Amino acid sequence: MKNILALYTSISGDNSLSTQLAKEWLAKQDAKVIERDLATNPVPHLTMETFSGFMTPEEGRSESQQAQAALSDTLIKELKEADTLLISIPMYNFGIPSTLKSWIDYISRAGMTFQYSANGPEGLVKNTRAVVVLTRGGLYQGTEADVQAPFIKLVLGFIGITDVEFIYAEGVAMGEEAKQVAISSAKEKLTAVTA
Ligand SMILES: Cc1cc2nc3c(=O)[nH]c(=O)nc-3n(C[C@H](O)[C@H](O)[C@H](O)COP(=O)(O)O)c2cc1C
Repeated sequence: MKNILALYTSISGDNSLSTQLAKEWLAKQDAKVIERDLATNPVPHLTMETFSGFMTPEEGRSESQQAQAALSDTLIKELKEADTLLISIPMYNFGIPSTLKSWIDYISRAGMTFQYSANGPEGLVKNTRAVVVLTRGGLYQGTEADVQAPFIKLVLGFIGITDVEFIYAEGVAMGEEAKQVAISSAKEKLTAVTA
């Protein structure tokens, strides 16, 4: 059976379009699912104490550094065990929700999810693909203003996830008709994606 790690990042709870689209797709997959709602259960912001704890051997870590590294280890294990990483992402002030950035900061660890070799950086998350659902009030896909998708592609590629499918529901604040068209289009595209 396939493993899916699902990350939800909207602050809107049950009213979230991105979460609803992701969950509707998930319900159709025959897979074991781990769900993380980063809005209600956020990963802390990265601090120097946390980062230096990551770089310190286990026996040299303070108590709080041990707890932070343990959380990071758990998040990385969930990611590495997933065949598919599903992330639902609303656009907030042109970027990704900061809770998702915190998750990225906790799973980006040298020697665990990437390493530098003579050939440059190498991603260590093998055999995981990603499905990314993006919801936006306006229209940005394919323009310079879309900094979300290129950033996610870069970060995931860096850790080894190069198979990334982006599903957009855009223009959802541009009137009811535009919203419904965007939702139908996203659902249709999701139908073609399997875990
Ligand atoms: C705090 C906040 C900031 C937002 N910023 C933008 C933005 O910069 N550009 C945009 O097109 N839509 C913006 N929106 C609209 C959301 O991206 C849009 O409503 C999206 O569908 C929300 O997804 P969700 O329902 O999963 O939360 C913003 C919404 C909120 C709540």
